[in-house]
Amino acid sequence: MFKKLDFSFDDNIKNKILKVQKFIDKGNILYRDESIDCKFKQYEEGTDEDILSKQYSNIYPAHKQVVFPLKEIKKYIPLHIRQKEEPHIHWQVFDGGSIIPPHIDRMRQCTINVYTQISNEETIVYKKNRDGCRLETEQGLITHESFVPEWLTEIGRYKANLWDFYLLNVSIPHAVINMTDKPRISISYSFYKTSFEELNDLIG
Ligand SMILES: [Fe+2]
Repeated sequence: MFKKLDFSFDDNIKNKILKVQKFIDKGNILYRDESIDCKFKQYEEGTDEDILSKQYSNIYPAHKQVVFPLKEIKKYIPLHIRQKEEPHIHWQVFDGGSIIPPHIDRMRQCTINVYTQISNEETIVYKKNRDGCRLETEQGLITHESFVPEWLTEIGRYKANLWDFYLLNVSIPHAVINMTDKPRISISYSFYKTSFEELNDLIG
Protein backbone atom coordinates (compact mmCIF):
# COMPACT_ATOMS: atom_id res chain seq x y z
CA MET A 1 0.00 0.00 0.00
CA PHE A 2 2.86 2.39 0.82
CA LYS A 3 6.53 2.18 1.63
CA LYS A 4 9.00 4.68 3.02
CA LEU A 5 12.04 4.65 0.72
CA ASP A 6 15.65 5.26 1.62
CA PHE A 7 16.09 7.65 -1.33
CA SER A 8 17.21 11.16 -0.48
CA PHE A 9 17.99 14.59 -1.91
CA ASP A 10 21.36 16.23 -1.28
CA ASP A 11 21.57 19.68 0.30
CA ASN A 12 22.26 21.36 -3.02
CA ILE A 13 18.98 20.22 -4.59
CA LYS A 14 17.05 20.83 -1.38
CA ASN A 15 18.17 24.47 -1.41
CA LYS A 16 17.22 24.85 -5.06
CA ILE A 17 13.80 23.33 -4.43
CA LEU A 18 13.12 25.66 -1.50
CA LYS A 19 14.10 28.64 -3.66
CA VAL A 20 11.77 27.74 -6.53
CA GLN A 21 9.02 26.73 -4.10
CA LYS A 22 8.78 30.35 -2.97
CA PHE A 23 7.49 31.16 -6.47
CA ILE A 24 5.19 28.18 -6.77
CA ASP A 25 2.17 30.47 -7.20
CA LYS A 26 3.71 31.73 -10.45
CA GLY A 27 4.17 28.20 -11.80
CA ASN A 28 2.13 26.80 -14.67
CA ILE A 29 -0.87 24.91 -13.37
CA LEU A 30 -1.50 21.50 -14.93
CA TYR A 31 -4.70 20.72 -13.07
CA ARG A 32 -6.77 22.33 -10.38
CA ASP A 33 -9.71 21.42 -8.11
CA GLU A 34 -11.18 24.50 -6.52
CA SER A 35 -13.31 23.71 -3.52
CA ILE A 36 -15.24 26.97 -3.89
CA ASP A 37 -16.32 25.98 -7.42
CA CYS A 38 -17.07 22.47 -6.40
CA LYS A 39 -20.85 22.24 -6.20
CA PHE A 40 -22.04 18.78 -7.06
CA LYS A 41 -25.07 18.07 -9.21
CA GLN A 42 -28.31 17.32 -7.41
CA TYR A 43 -28.69 13.56 -7.08
CA GLU A 44 -31.76 11.53 -6.29
CA GLU A 45 -32.31 11.16 -2.54
CA GLY A 46 -30.71 8.05 -1.05
CA THR A 47 -28.60 7.05 -4.05
CA ASP A 48 -24.89 6.35 -3.60
CA GLU A 49 -24.07 9.59 -5.41
CA ASP A 50 -26.42 11.50 -3.10
CA ILE A 51 -24.77 10.00 0.01
CA LEU A 52 -21.29 10.76 -1.32
CA SER A 53 -22.04 14.29 -2.49
CA LYS A 54 -23.70 15.24 0.81
CA GLN A 55 -20.76 13.93 2.80
CA TYR A 56 -18.17 15.79 0.74
CA SER A 57 -19.91 18.92 -0.50
CA ASN A 58 -18.20 21.13 2.06
CA ILE A 59 -14.78 19.56 2.21
CA TYR A 60 -13.80 18.77 -1.35
CA PRO A 61 -10.18 19.91 -1.52
CA ALA A 62 -8.55 22.87 -3.16
CA HIS A 63 -5.78 20.98 -4.85
CA LYS A 64 -3.52 21.72 -7.78
CA GLN A 65 -0.73 20.22 -9.81
CA VAL A 66 1.98 22.61 -10.92
CA VAL A 67 4.82 22.17 -13.43
CA PHE A 68 8.01 21.35 -11.57
CA PRO A 69 10.81 23.47 -13.07
CA LEU A 70 14.02 21.62 -12.15
CA LYS A 71 14.76 18.94 -14.74
CA GLU A 72 17.66 17.50 -12.75
CA ILE A 73 15.20 16.21 -10.16
CA LYS A 74 14.67 13.01 -12.14
CA LYS A 75 18.16 11.69 -11.42
CA TYR A 76 17.21 11.09 -7.77
CA ILE A 77 15.17 8.13 -8.94
CA PRO A 78 17.51 5.21 -9.74
CA LEU A 79 18.18 4.68 -13.44
CA HIS A 80 16.88 1.10 -13.58
CA ILE A 81 13.47 2.36 -12.43
CA ARG A 82 13.42 5.15 -15.03
CA GLN A 83 14.36 2.63 -17.68
CA LYS A 84 11.20 0.71 -16.83
CA GLU A 85 9.10 3.88 -16.98
CA GLU A 86 10.06 7.54 -17.10
CA PRO A 87 7.89 9.14 -14.41
CA HIS A 88 5.95 12.37 -14.90
CA ILE A 89 7.10 14.90 -12.35
CA HIS A 90 5.03 17.74 -10.89
CA TRP A 91 4.33 19.62 -7.69
CA GLN A 92 1.21 18.71 -5.76
CA VAL A 93 -0.19 21.44 -3.57
CA PHE A 94 -3.21 21.22 -1.37
CA ASP A 95 -4.58 23.85 0.87
CA GLY A 96 -4.27 23.96 4.63
CA GLY A 97 -7.20 22.58 6.56
CA SER A 98 -8.53 20.59 3.64
CA ILE A 99 -9.30 16.93 3.24
CA ILE A 100 -8.83 14.81 0.17
CA PRO A 101 -11.59 12.24 0.66
CA PRO A 102 -10.89 8.57 -0.05
CA HIS A 103 -10.48 8.13 -3.81
CA ILE A 104 -8.65 6.15 -6.49
CA ASP A 105 -6.49 8.15 -8.88
CA ARG A 106 -7.86 8.38 -12.38
CA MET A 107 -4.89 7.16 -14.36
CA ARG A 108 -1.84 6.81 -12.15
CA GLN A 109 -0.90 3.42 -10.77
CA CYS A 110 1.52 4.61 -8.17
CA THR A 111 3.61 7.59 -7.19
CA ILE A 112 6.80 8.38 -5.35
CA ASN A 113 6.07 11.46 -3.27
CA VAL A 114 8.73 13.66 -1.71
CA TYR A 115 7.38 16.03 0.90
CA THR A 116 8.81 19.52 0.57
CA GLN A 117 6.38 21.34 2.86
CA ILE A 118 4.53 19.35 5.45
CA SER A 119 1.52 20.26 7.49
CA ASN A 120 1.24 17.46 10.03
CA GLU A 121 -0.95 15.69 7.48
CA GLU A 122 -1.81 12.03 7.42
CA THR A 123 -2.12 9.82 4.38
CA ILE A 124 -4.57 6.97 4.91
CA VAL A 125 -4.90 3.88 2.74
CA TYR A 126 -7.92 1.59 2.54
CA LYS A 127 -9.16 -1.71 1.21
CA LYS A 128 -12.43 -1.25 -0.64
CA ASN A 129 -15.46 -3.26 0.43
CA ARG A 130 -17.40 -2.13 -2.63
CA ASP A 131 -16.91 0.14 -5.63
CA GLY A 132 -17.06 3.87 -5.13
CA CYS A 133 -18.67 6.35 -7.49
CA ARG A 134 -17.79 9.42 -9.47
CA LEU A 135 -19.58 12.67 -8.93
CA GLU A 136 -20.23 15.44 -11.39
CA THR A 137 -19.99 19.08 -10.43
CA GLU A 138 -22.39 21.73 -11.72
CA GLN A 139 -19.52 22.84 -13.98
CA GLY A 140 -19.38 19.37 -15.54
CA LEU A 141 -16.18 18.17 -13.87
CA ILE A 142 -16.06 14.51 -12.96
CA THR A 143 -14.35 13.49 -9.73
CA HIS A 144 -12.14 10.50 -9.13
CA GLU A 145 -13.83 7.28 -8.00
CA SER A 146 -14.61 8.34 -4.43
CA PHE A 147 -15.83 6.63 -1.29
CA VAL A 148 -17.43 7.28 2.07
CA PRO A 149 -15.68 5.56 5.00
CA GLU A 150 -18.47 2.98 5.36
CA TRP A 151 -17.48 1.49 1.99
CA LEU A 152 -13.88 0.97 3.10
CA THR A 153 -11.61 -0.64 5.68
CA GLU A 154 -8.50 1.27 6.70
CA ILE A 155 -5.33 -0.76 6.17
CA GLY A 156 -2.65 1.78 7.08
CA ARG A 157 -1.67 5.39 7.53
CA TYR A 158 1.49 7.47 7.68
CA LYS A 159 2.64 10.93 8.59
CA ALA A 160 5.56 11.96 6.42
CA ASN A 161 8.48 14.08 7.59
CA LEU A 162 10.06 16.80 5.49
CA TRP A 163 12.06 15.36 2.54
CA ASP A 164 10.79 11.82 3.09
CA PHE A 165 10.32 9.69 -0.03
CA TYR A 166 7.24 7.46 -0.02
CA LEU A 167 6.08 5.02 -2.65
CA LEU A 168 2.28 5.08 -2.58
CA ASN A 169 -0.22 2.84 -4.31
CA VAL A 170 -2.83 5.23 -5.73
CA SER A 171 -4.78 2.49 -7.51
CA ILE A 172 -6.40 1.66 -4.16
CA PRO A 173 -8.43 4.15 -2.08
CA HIS A 174 -6.37 6.73 -0.25
CA ALA A 175 -7.12 9.98 1.54
CA VAL A 176 -5.14 12.89 2.94
CA ILE A 177 -6.14 14.94 5.94
CA ASN A 178 -4.32 18.22 6.37
CA MET A 179 -4.25 19.12 10.05
CA THR A 180 -3.06 22.73 9.88
CA ASP A 181 -3.72 25.90 7.88
CA LYS A 182 -0.45 25.49 5.99
CA PRO A 183 -0.54 24.07 2.44
CA ARG A 184 1.00 20.64 1.99
CA ILE A 185 3.46 20.51 -0.92
CA SER A 186 5.04 17.45 -2.42
CA ILE A 187 6.96 16.53 -5.53
CA SER A 188 5.25 13.66 -7.23
CA TYR A 189 6.94 11.18 -9.55
CA SER A 190 3.89 9.59 -11.20
CA PHE A 191 3.91 6.15 -12.79
CA TYR A 192 1.05 5.38 -15.17
CA LYS A 193 2.07 1.98 -16.49
CA THR A 194 4.04 0.42 -13.65
CA SER A 195 2.09 -0.99 -10.73
CA PHE A 196 2.96 -0.46 -7.09
CA GLU A 197 4.02 -4.11 -6.80
CA GLU A 198 6.28 -3.93 -9.86
CA LEU A 199 7.89 -0.73 -8.66
CA ASN A 200 8.28 -2.09 -5.16
CA ASP A 201 10.11 -5.13 -6.59
CA LEU A 202 12.37 -2.89 -8.67
CA ILE A 203 13.25 -0.82 -5.62
CA GLY A 204 14.01 -4.03 -3.72
FE1 LIG B 1 -4.78 10.60 -5.08
